[in-house]
Amino acid sequence: WYRKVETKKRYTITSALPYTNGRLHIGHLAGAYIPADIYARFKRITDNDVAYICGSDEHGVAISIRAKKENKTPKEIIDKYHNLIKKSFKDFGISFDNYSRTSSKIHHKTASEFFKFLDNKNCFEIKKSKQLFDPIEKQFLADRFVEGECPHCGFKHAYGDQCENCGSSLSPEQLINPISKISGAKPIEKETTHWYLPLGKYDDFIKEWFLNDKKDSAKSNVYGQVKSWIDQGLESRAITRDLDWGIPVPHKDGNGKVLYVWFDAPIGYISSTKEWAKNENKDWELYWKDKNTKLIHFIGKDNIVFHCIIFPIILKAHGGYILPENIPANEFLNLEGEKFSTSKNWAIWIDEFLNDFPGMQDSLRYTLTVNAPETKDNDFTWKDFQARNNNELVAIFGNFINRVFVLTHKYYDGFVPESGDLDTVDIEILKRAYKMPILISEALDNYKFRQAINLLIDLSRLGNKYLAEEEPWKLYKLGNIERVKKIMYVSLQLCGLLSLLSEPFLPNASKKIRDILNINEIKWTDLSFDNPILEQNKTINKPYLIFRKIEDNEIQNQIKKLKS
Ligand code: 2FM
Ligand code: ZN
Repeated sequence: WYRKVETKKRYTITSALPYTNGRLHIGHLAGAYIPADIYARFKRITDNDVAYICGSDEHGVAISIRAKKENKTPKEIIDKYHNLIKKSFKDFGISFDNYSRTSSKIHHKTASEFFKFLDNKNCFEIKKSKQLFDPIEKQFLADRFVEGECPHCGFKHAYGDQCENCGSSLSPEQLINPISKISGAKPIEKETTHWYLPLGKYDDFIKEWFLNDKKDSAKSNVYGQVKSWIDQGLESRAITRDLDWGIPVPHKDGNGKVLYVWFDAPIGYISSTKEWAKNENKDWELYWKDKNTKLIHFIGKDNIVFHCIIFPIILKAHGGYILPENIPANEFLNLEGEKFSTSKNWAIWIDEFLNDFPGMQDSLRYTLTVNAPETKDNDFTWKDFQARNNNELVAIFGNFINRVFVLTHKYYDGFVPESGDLDTVDIEILKRAYKMPILISEALDNYKFRQAINLLIDLSRLGNKYLAEEEPWKLYKLGNIERVKKIMYVSLQLCGLLSLLSEPFLPNASKKIRDILNINEIKWTDLSFDNPILEQNKTINKPYLIFRKIEDNEIQNQIKKLKS
């Protein structure tokens, strides 16, 4: 069924490179990692060639600020947080094909060569201008070293390069009432020279490629933000900085200057792919230069401008690279009604979550997907987490699987019964069930993760309804053995289907169910009504509960911990 609509394709899937200036929290997961992981797993299980790429973003002022705060060197900071972040992703089960870091040799080389190539092609303007300077620290105030009021939305703590409230990309001189974040001083102006990317020259390109060509495929929240930015007019953006932490500008006049972190970081997707390809003996260029490859960037809404305008312009200016097919940015997730905040410790840190709820990654994946900030900001509450886990995963999905497994052992010592000819009601159920891979695929191809995971739960609802209506336990007592075999056979096939369809969303549960059923992973593209997942007379293993209930006191403890 699937092959008819889709032939095997190559996908380069990226998740935003996290800054190594702090630990990972669940807001990060909801924005750029869980949806990308679902998508990458979905593309793998529908038999595509996938490179799912990420790594740590280790340059920029965010790192220098953290280093000052912790009284450490930037190198000590990136090593500490790179390892913590990498471990959290691994423990949580994000299925990157490669997780690299921008301090690596391969990245420095790739980003420097990219810059030199564009410089030699005369893609940059080199301009002298007056920039904000800290008179006490005797240092230029780029990016997060300066804060002030956003000229677009009035947010009081906009950074020198970006307002995290409205997503606008800014220059320090646009800030109203700027203040140095290093000394607290009012900045003065001082002349300096920098390389600029003349975005205005690419106005026609970006209008055609994004506003025109992506009109139907871009998510509305993404399209709206990009359009309003283009409507304001594209101005040249400095892509170098007077800083001591970053990739040195590879030019004879580049002394004391580094590449702007937002120039080098997206190139990090390319260097991470190169690193992966080298280890895997693959050709990295196929994943970035072949027009049959689809490049998809998963990001949070504060990264939209960089991925939809600036990076595509960099790729276009270079030439020879493919451009992103889609950039399905999510909005923000809040926590118990307030913004996540590292400094106020208003967050649920992944490592702490895994300590407090060992083995419950899928419960968090479920809640963050069913309640994803797909088109508007959304709220995570501990009570909702408990309710979603207990009332949906445990009571609907887990309950169906468990009942079928327990009854199979009770009636047949774990053997899959011989069904004989199925009745009409059974055939109807299976036909409906086998439509699910198609419906879920359609939803995921349109980046509708909430809809997709709801379809999965609907399938287990269907199973529960079938059992409740057919009542095999009553028929068994009445001695209608042949009918019970058919019902149990159909129910076991539904469990098989659930185990395979849940893989992208709930990979741990999927594996556990497959292990109980004694089946390997089957590609969704090979699933069909005529090709049953479970063979008759094979045995299934002893069942155990796949999900567990979360008690009130566990939730109260978490709320207490957060509020303290
Ligand atoms: O906003 C951030 O956390 C950035 N570190 C994201 C970078 S994404 C990419 F382009 F590298
Ligand atoms: Zn703003």
